Amino acid sequence: MPDVKILGIPGSLRRASFNRLALESARWLLPEGATLDIYGLEDIPPYNQDLERQPPARVVELKARIRATDAVLFCTPEYNYSMPGVLKNAIDWASRPYGDSAWRGKPVAVMGASVGALGSARAQYHLRQCFVYLDMPQVNQPEVLIANAAQRFNDRGELTDETSRELIRKLLAELVAWTRRLQG
Ligand code: FNR
Repeated sequence: MPDVKILGIPGSLRRASFNRLALESARWLLPEGATLDIYGLEDIPPYNQDLERQPPARVVELKARIRATDAVLFCTPEYNYSMPGVLKNAIDWASRPYGDSAWRGKPVAVMGASVGALGSARAQYHLRQCFVYLDMPQVNQPEVLIANAAQRFNDRGELTDETSRELIRKLLAELVAWTRRLQG
């Protein structure tokens, strides 16, 4: 059976982003028969509907990477009780033009880290609302909410919090099982 390829997309561009670090740590928590590539959203221009039929090369690449993967894993911070604009912007680009969304039908899971007490819960919920319109079959459980993120990583940027690591391990196993089920 071929490996399930997962594309991990961090919702933050920050160099020392906890969300990117959480994805890096997730690479060590994969079930057998799965791979995880991390794909950053740097340098994607703001969405402009006038350009959607001749999108910038960066967007063409984004859509190709999504199409080439078996499943998507978002790891998002929370900005002002929602997802960061860079993440929503990338979602919008790759969903267009109408009828040519790269997201449609892709199995998806979400996790997130924030320095707040709710660990990006509200951002994740908004993201889950988008999955409905995008027609992305999502993993519902477990919820991975890495709260008080500054205390969950060591000096080398490794996620050391055992509870979070165990939840990520479960989420990845669910995503891979879900993807295999949908692939038939
Ligand atoms: C934040 N942060 C934040 N945290 C939170 O729990 N709820 C929130 O609504 C917000 N809002 C917010 C807005 C903006 C513009 C910024 C820059 C930050 C704090 C956020 O959790 C923290 O900066 C994380 O470290 C961001 O994730 P990365 O960059 O470490 O992945």
